[in-house]
Amino acid sequence: MKTVGMSSLAAATGGAGLGSSWAADGAAGVNRDSTDAPADGTTRVTFKINGQTKQMDVAPNVILLDAIRDDLALTGTKKGCDHGQCGACNVHVNGRVINSCLSLAVMHDGDEITTVEGLSEPGRLHPVQQAFLDHDAYQCGYCTSGQMMTATYVLASEHIDSSDEAVREAMSGNICRCGAYKNILAAVQSARGKV
Ligand code: FES
Ligand code: FES
Repeated sequence: MKTVGMSSLAAATGGAGLGSSWAADGAAGVNRDSTDAPADGTTRVTFKINGQTKQMDVAPNVILLDAIRDDLALTGTKKGCDHGQCGACNVHVNGRVINSCLSLAVMHDGDEITTVEGLSEPGRLHPVQQAFLDHDAYQCGYCTSGQMMTATYVLASEHIDSSDEAVREAMSGNICRCGAYKNILAAVQSARGKV
């Protein structure tokens, strides 16, 4: 089975809320003088997420998913299985799709990350988001953000052909417990050429 989600590390455990603090340009949170030394047992990482530069002091076992949800309060990205099997946690890192539950935050110094919150622009949904709405492509919505992150990658990829079969296979790492697959496929295909 050829799926798009890319797992960068499988051994990560632990909660970000227990092991990290962050500082951001003018954002709420624990403001930190960036010239201070990182807290004991943590490493300072700086990355860009949804266009904003963030600096975090993270313990070695903090996973990216927890850092995104718990420390940066970007809760659109969901924790489903926490084992790289469902795709609910998918985000883009440097233009690729990854399972953020299988990636350590400390590995992302200098990276560019996009979550579902970064897809839309003020007052305008991303074409994939609009297509999901237009095609009733979600029920409970829990898998939806991960589905959208994979879908935007699939539609932008030159290596995945446009057939229904190829799209299904590329998105097969995203599990929907509601079984909304038929409408998800219709939404993805209708957004083709608009991303
Ligand atoms: S929560 Fe990451 S793949 Fe399921
Ligand atoms: S819409 Fe409920 S899990 Fe997919």
